[in-house]
Amino acid sequence: MSGKLVIGNWKMNTRSESAQALVAALLADPATNRDGVGVAAPAVYLAQVARQLEGGRIALASQDVSRYDADGAFTGETSAAMLADVGCRYALVGHSERRQYFAESNEALLRKMRNALAAGVTPVLCVGETLEQREGGQYLEVIRQQLAILAEIADGEYVVAYEPVWAIGTGKVASLEQIAEMHAFIKNWCLQNAGSSANIRVLYGGSVKAENAEAILATKNVDGALVGGASLSADSFRVICQAAGKLI
Ligand code: PGA
Repeated sequence: MSGKLVIGNWKMNTRSESAQALVAALLADPATNRDGVGVAAPAVYLAQVARQLEGGRIALASQDVSRYDADGAFTGETSAAMLADVGCRYALVGHSERRQYFAESNEALLRKMRNALAAGVTPVLCVGETLEQREGGQYLEVIRQQLAILAEIADGEYVVAYEPVWAIGTGKVASLEQIAEMHAFIKNWCLQNAGSSANIRVLYGGSVKAENAEAILATKNVDGALVGGASLSADSFRVICQAAGKLI
């Protein structure tokens, strides 16, 4: 494991044509077409983006994965095996928008993590506290509870993304001190509780932009970034990836 990992989370954005144009721009640029860069496209465009990425170095990610592992009567779901089949290298698990709008529980998230791992797709477990929890001083405890499922996972490579809910899509970025504190906390927790995860990568997410990427990525224990809004523009995503590429 070396170098920083930057994944662009497109969320429920793009259309066939705009996704194609964005990927074409990323592929044409050596700052983005390299190892350690990924894009999480909407499920409906994964196969299209996968075909376009063939021969390039950008990794494909999904924004979610089903908690159900076997094929069958689960209307609307996308299994880990399907994601692997179209070439997904990563799957986001438990993004705060999914926790909030789709009531995803730790139990469901553990199943998602296991399904992804069994299919050879690296899960990216997203954790983060709300503003209320931060201001109430419970933020470390909240993250501890969200990380708890990792103790149930015997082995396998996974990534954690720390995304304070109050910093997502709001333009409010956590301070470098807040980021450093939480990333150290997550790494220590994983070291003590999640066996083989000494090598775990912890990404930061929440209003990462061209202007703040370098400082955030240079912060201790920050192994990369999960980028929402700024990943929809090839120009700003490129600056973020370039900042990541300069750092080890
Ligand atoms: P943002 O989103 O960069 O738009 O704040 C980050 C995320 O939700 O992954």
